[in-house]
Amino acid sequence: MAAFQLLFLLLVSCMAASARPPRHLSECQVVQTDVFCSNKSLSGAPVNLPHHVQLLDLSRNQVQNLTQETLAYRTGFHRLNLHANKIHFIQPGLFKDMADLKVLDLSRNHLNVFALSKINIGPLRAVESLDLSSNGLYTGMSDYFLAESPSLANLSLNSNSITKIAHDTFSGSLSLRKISLHNNVILEIEAGAFDSLANLTELDLSKNSITCIIDFNLYNLKVLNLSKNSLELFQSEKSAPSLKLLSLDLSENKMQRFPVLPADNALEYLDLSRNQLHNLNVTGGDNLIFKKLRYLDISYNHLSSIPDSLFWSMEQLEVLNMSNNCIGSFSTSHPDHLQNVKIINLSYNSLQTLTFGENTLLSLEKLYLQGNGLTFLDHQIFQRLPSISFLQLQQNNLKICPPKQNHLERTLMDQNHQNLSSCVSFSCVQNLHFLYLSENNLMTLPANAFAHTPLKLLDLSLNPGMDMDRDSLFGLEQTLDHLLLRENNISSLNTDLSSLRSLRHVDLSTNQLTTLPTWNTESSIESLNLQNNNLVTLEYSTMIALKPSLKTLYMGSNPLSCCSNLNFLQMVQNSAVVVPDIERVTCVHEEYSEPVNIEKVTLEMCHAQTNAPNSIVTVVLISLVVMIVLCGLVVKCRQSRKRKRHRSFRA
Ligand SMILES: *[C@@H]1O[C@H](CO)[C@@H](O)[C@H](O)[C@H]1NC(C)=O
Ligand SMILES: *[C@@H]1O[C@H](CO)[C@@H](O)[C@H](O)[C@H]1NC(C)=O
Ligand SMILES: *[C@@H]1O[C@H](CO)[C@@H](O)[C@H](O)[C@H]1NC(C)=O
Ligand SMILES: *[C@@H]1O[C@H](CO)[C@@H](O)[C@H](O)[C@H]1NC(C)=O
Ligand SMILES: *[C@@H]1O[C@H](CO)[C@@H](O)[C@H](O)[C@H]1NC(C)=O
Ligand SMILES: *[C@@H]1O[C@H](CO)[C@@H](O)[C@H](O)[C@H]1NC(C)=O
Repeated sequence: MAAFQLLFLLLVSCMAASARPPRHLSECQVVQTDVFCSNKSLSGAPVNLPHHVQLLDLSRNQVQNLTQETLAYRTGFHRLNLHANKIHFIQPGLFKDMADLKVLDLSRNHLNVFALSKINIGPLRAVESLDLSSNGLYTGMSDYFLAESPSLANLSLNSNSITKIAHDTFSGSLSLRKISLHNNVILEIEAGAFDSLANLTELDLSKNSITCIIDFNLYNLKVLNLSKNSLELFQSEKSAPSLKLLSLDLSENKMQRFPVLPADNALEYLDLSRNQLHNLNVTGGDNLIFKKLRYLDISYNHLSSIPDSLFWSMEQLEVLNMSNNCIGSFSTSHPDHLQNVKIINLSYNSLQTLTFGENTLLSLEKLYLQGNGLTFLDHQIFQRLPSISFLQLQQNNLKICPPKQNHLERTLMDQNHQNLSSCVSFSCVQNLHFLYLSENNLMTLPANAFAHTPLKLLDLSLNPGMDMDRDSLFGLEQTLDHLLLRENNISSLNTDLSSLRSLRHVDLSTNQLTTLPTWNTESSIESLNLQNNNLVTLEYSTMIALKPSLKTLYMGSNPLSCCSNLNFLQMVQNSAVVVPDIERVTCVHEEYSEPVNIEKVTLEMCHAQTNAPNSIVTVVLISLVVMIVLCGLVVKCRQSRKRKRHRSFRA
């Protein structure tokens, strides 16, 4: 019976294979009015496609000729997805009767071949979204698809080979709202090419070869992407009425100056990263008025200074990225400048001086200063930023002030108005939660360094040889959640971590630790990284204390002893805790020449030298002996006292 069924199935599938087409609906997934036939090696739609089908997904198939026959003579489609087929021919007038067709995806086909026949694909009356990307189309070829597309709002011509946008390219598709021409080779845009498109709000010309835009006059455009061109100049029409442009991406071009826009522009987002800005000529002829700007990215340029006056008009600015330049000095002096800025990225410059005037940057929440080699800062600089919560200072040369010194220094400082100090204070920074101080060559971490600062995360990694005071983390008991002390060459941690009640994540990897930090049962450590240390024996009491909360433990690359860590072994083998680097957790056993993987250690291997039980027996024995001796002594003592009393009586 079973064999018969198999034979029958084989026969049926053979017949189906030899007779393709007809293509059958059973190959597809049908969900109400939607039919999904993606990636089924089909040359067309299933012949028995339901009449009411609205969405047909025929993507990733073998359709070559797009005809009424390949669409099973259905015309009620709302959406047709023909992405990634081999279409090189479309029957003229095919879409004429598809009154409901709104979305047509013809991307990744061979429509350049069809375009050579110079036939219009005929009216696309209702189509609102048309995707013609990756079709090898070159200049003029899009005309055959756009000539009669009165409803078209959304057009993608991405990844073709178009070199020129002619003045009449879009004359048959006047409803266009969004055009994407990303990844072509556009060198020229004829005057007036977009002028007739009254609804055009979004234009993506990224990754082309445009060198300059003068007399920009697309008044209704809101989003313009010109990233990855060769632009040297962007200038709007002189007597321009108000522009509605909100977002302008000019990243990865060759701009040496800011774009020139009318003073009443509405620009909110401007990306000028990876250009050739050298100096900002603020007082000169440049119109640098951006009253609505909220996001400005000028990272990866060649700026050596940023004049404070650059920001005078940018009252709304919230994000300012100046990283990866060669800025040597940055200061804010005017309270009105940058008053709404929440994020400043000054990482990877060569800052020598950084000063924030009184009552400036009151909204600043995140400040990135890593990779500057900063040595001197006003020691109270961060206390002046009332909203600062996130501070990245890694890869600098800072020293941390002890809090007591503050008062002394402050008085000295105020006298000679010299604000530079050889150390920076991190105590009393009211809202600071995240502090990154790795790679600062920190030599000492003074007591109470972070007192009255509600740190949640503290990264002190890669400061080898840093001498941490016993009380350096004092004051962080209630807040600190995450402590990183990676690669610090610590041989023993004399700072008490057990009082940090909120601490859950600790990274002590790549140090020289020979003993675990002490923790008691009140600890809440969830993840602990002890990789690459000098641990031989893990203290039993600490492991017991950690056990209830510990979830993840990294322990690889330590010279553990196999038989003196049987408790740890048990924890691992009972999977009470996850050890992600278990493959690298090995231990030393005197009977084996090579280190043994911890998972392979058995009780039997340690039977001969059962250290733990032995030592317990020894302890018990010693205690017994001591107790007996003590008892003996007490008895003797009483007896001798009695005798003494007797003696005194006698005397
Ligand atoms: C596609 O259509 C063309 C022209 O109608 C025809 O010559 C060709 O044989 C067809 N190819 C297939 C695979 O049906
Ligand atoms: C326009 O097309 C893009 C991609 O082709 C799509 O993500 C977007 O949702 C479309 N928008 C409209 C309004 O159809
Ligand atoms: C501009 O286009 C590029 C692709 O070339 C893209 O990465 C970038 O996100 C776009 N910009 C905006 C603001 O969307
Ligand atoms: C500049 O910094 C902002 C905010 O930190 C970030 O969102 C953006 O991606 C950065 N720009 C570059 C080019 O990385
Ligand atoms: C700062 O800007 C640089 C590029 O300029 C970027 O790579 C980095 O991610 C930014 N930092 C943040 C936190 O956004
Ligand atoms: C690490 O500490 C040891 C002494 O414990 C010292 O000999 C060695 O030079 C230190 N290494 C570094 C990179 O500081």
